[in-house]
Amino acid sequence: MRKPVIAGNWKMHKTISEGFEFIDGIKDKVKDTDVEVMIFVPCTMLKSMKDYTKGTNIVIGAQNMHFEEKGAFTGEISPLMLKDINVKNTLIGHSERREYFNETDETVNKKILKAMEHDIDVVLCVGEKLEEREKNIEKEVVKEQIVKAFADVSAKMFDKIVIAYEPIWAIGTGKTASSKDADEMIAFIRSEIENLYNDEISENVRILYGGSVKPANVEELMNQDDIDGGLVGGASLEAEQFVELVNF
Ligand code: 13P
Repeated sequence: MRKPVIAGNWKMHKTISEGFEFIDGIKDKVKDTDVEVMIFVPCTMLKSMKDYTKGTNIVIGAQNMHFEEKGAFTGEISPLMLKDINVKNTLIGHSERREYFNETDETVNKKILKAMEHDIDVVLCVGEKLEEREKNIEKEVVKEQIVKAFADVSAKMFDKIVIAYEPIWAIGTGKTASSKDADEMIAFIRSEIENLYNDEISENVRILYGGSVKPANVEELMNQDDIDGGLVGGASLEAEQFVELVNF
């Protein structure tokens, strides 16, 4: 049985005091859930949010991490810096990182390998663009992202990996993939993981859907066989909505 995940991705939103206010608004309401609750916050508030959520079931993670431990990489954050503040989770390969910051399947792979080396859990993001779906090549695109992301990643690392399928055309647009389309792609990703690894890994890996997840559609998405949770942008910014998502 895979434990469901509701993960908020705050992107470039919120100050520290707004982050604290959010935690005050959710912590008692999500404390008894069977869902794993994660929030990926801006780097400026990683340490304070990590400290503020101590003793709760809320996992605080980074939105990105560099693949080198140190060096001349202005503006980047290394795995050692995350470990230094006790942060053990990060998103890797979000489509906005790929689109605006030149992340490639190769850098994504290097980041995953480096995270594994440092015992940092990863949520790997994959997903196709609208024109790729219109050309009916979405499965090839996602398969290539998966195969390249996991090059040299061993089966025993998989308890530290979650995958999020986020079709780019559904992010921040209000357009959700239909629950059937999302489930079909997620089942496809699971079968590719079986091809790359084995049945046990593919049955156990958690695969989330992201793209305009909100209280109105979360239950239907979560009722699909292969969808194990949501990676949520806009609706994760409001405490009340986020609580509704966790308690779907
Ligand atoms: P929205 O939920 O705002 O569509 O964002 C999805 C996303 O990109 C989460 O990583």
